[in-house]
Amino acid sequence: MNIDIDELMKLSHRYRDNPLWDFFLNREHRLITKWLHYFEVYDKWFAKFRGKEIVMIEVGVFMGGSLQMWRDYFGSKAQIIGVDINEDCREYAAEGISIEIGSQDNPNFWNYMKGKYPKVDILLDDGGHTMQQQIITFKEMFPHLADGGVYLCEDTHSSYLSGFDIDKAEMTYMEYMKRIIDEMHAYYKGNPLSVGYNTKNLSGLHFYDSMVVAEKKERRLPPVDFQYKTDENPPYCAFCVGTAKHIKFSDV
Ligand SMILES: C[S@@+](CC[C@H](N)C(=O)[O-])C[C@H]1O[C@@H](n2cnc3c(N)ncnc32)[C@H](O)[C@@H]1O
Repeated sequence: MNIDIDELMKLSHRYRDNPLWDFFLNREHRLITKWLHYFEVYDKWFAKFRGKEIVMIEVGVFMGGSLQMWRDYFGSKAQIIGVDINEDCREYAAEGISIEIGSQDNPNFWNYMKGKYPKVDILLDDGGHTMQQQIITFKEMFPHLADGGVYLCEDTHSSYLSGFDIDKAEMTYMEYMKRIIDEMHAYYKGNPLSVGYNTKNLSGLHFYDSMVVAEKKERRLPPVDFQYKTDENPPYCAFCVGTAKHIKFSDV
């Protein structure tokens, strides 16, 4: 691919303070295949993990360049794990970077991964981009993420293209994620969905062009309403908000 350096330099202004962009543009690394606008989204969601002892899995190693970028970005305490179906990717293992070979549409492979890596903070899906691959990876690995973790699936425009096994899947990845918005709101009466894992553990879902970010955080309690209630109308929750004396849980 020919890169127009002038165009890149124009964009540099926009991404001036983005360390991933700086690495991409100014440092020695192997091939990285990312859309430009991804850098902004990555930094928005991943910045809080920098310098910490975190475990990140990226599905899709290809030439290994993005793994180098993640290691540089998160720092020496981070463990970066690249997953790929291609055995040749093993050669991209390095200090702080390990490679696991397997197929992301195989739940048994993910069982192996969960056993080997009990704590995972970030999962980035940049693998084969088929519907089944994206859906199975989310189903298997979102529940495995640590509380406070971030799950990012990219190239989700594959839901709108031919050639990504759309005809073989029950639904597209984007349709699947849209349903999860409803599951997230299953606490509310009138919602036909029952409370499930994503109701209790998905704290935010964010859609960008070709990327979906899911935040993992336990939501122990249904949201509360802020009406004052009389003593004749229990139950009360007195500990949620400082200003309100009596806060009743929404009757869910
Ligand atoms: C888009 S490339 C990854 C690019 C890399 N993350 C980067 O930013 O430079 C996609 C990779 O996914 C791998 N892949 C394809 N199908 C896969 C599967 N079923 N399981 C795991 N990896 C797969 C391919 O071998 C390829 O290396």
